[in-house]
Amino acid sequence: MNDTPLLSVRNLVKRYGGSSTWFGGNSFGVSAVDDVSFEIAPGETLGLVGESGSGKSTTGRVLLQLEAPTSGTVLFKGQTITGLSASELKPFRREMQIVFQDPYAALNPRMTVGAFVAEPMVVHKTASGSERQDRTAELFRKVGLDPSFMTRYPHEFSGGQRQRVNIARAIALNPSFIVADEPITALDVSIQAQIVNLFQDLQDELGLAYLFVAHDLSMVRYLCHRVAVMLRGRIVEMAPSEAIFGDARHPYTKALLTAIPVPDPDIERNRRHVPFDLEMHGPRPGQTLQKVAPQHFVLT
Ligand SMILES: Nc1ncnc2c1ncn2[C@@H]1O[C@H](COP(=O)(O)OP(=O)(O)OP(=O)(O)O)[C@@H](O)[C@H]1O
Ligand SMILES: [Mg+2]
Repeated sequence: MNDTPLLSVRNLVKRYGGSSTWFGGNSFGVSAVDDVSFEIAPGETLGLVGESGSGKSTTGRVLLQLEAPTSGTVLFKGQTITGLSASELKPFRREMQIVFQDPYAALNPRMTVGAFVAEPMVVHKTASGSERQDRTAELFRKVGLDPSFMTRYPHEFSGGQRQRVNIARAIALNPSFIVADEPITALDVSIQAQIVNLFQDLQDELGLAYLFVAHDLSMVRYLCHRVAVMLRGRIVEMAPSEAIFGDARHPYTKALLTAIPVPDPDIERNRRHVPFDLEMHGPRPGQTLQKVAPQHFVLT
């Protein structure tokens, strides 16, 4: 990791429906993403955690420019990428990839998984012929799949293997940044740790940075250097993982921490879940992220 951010997200807002002028300046309308700012360093993993509908996927899609923001700026390696045309965005597309939650939906059922993994190299004309074949085989090995699987179709694979295929495609163009949008949520618990390990190994090997989106905090601790907790479109707390797990300040973060299941059924049954009062502790207009310790910010 070095000090120059790979990615800077500044005051990102995404509003759906209605017109932004109609609701402009009105605190009544709830934005999917509401004034979100963060940075990710090269080789760093930022976890983005929060309940369903909190705006995690929208943040990921908008920062990759898969959708235009309502307002705000995204910089990649210091260059503004918000507002660029499709052709201006193309070089950045190679560098920024996404892995989705449902590994089967992302795949093309009528395409061999080898062709699917190689497709970005066709689109971006980075390799052809036997060079592309060799590179595809290398990508299969990198994600722990036998290259002989290249000629098979998605339905022949297990969930974990399908997610490996998606990851192979995501790294095909040597990106420096991947949005992983709940990439393990749909997988069996026994498989989840394997995929988390794969993300970690690829990070070590390729120097990748991740925005790792998750519902809860369970896997995040081991994978993420820092964690941002999102609620109702806003980041309510952001801190290094140790601080989130050892010194959480926002009531919502505390509630999320008590929601992590404990493997022991006796302990789990008797555990007290801290209830979260959205009316009392939910984000309010006018609140801003305040620094409470180095790299530790809380919405107050
Ligand atoms: N294309 C869209 N049109 C209208 N509203 C949308 C659209 N996409 C998302 N939303 C709304 O924006 C809010 C945030 O959605 P988003 O999918 O980003 O949440 P999330 O945190 O990823 O949730 P989940 O954990 O369920 O994936 C939700 O209220 C959702 O209904
Ligand atoms: Mg989502």
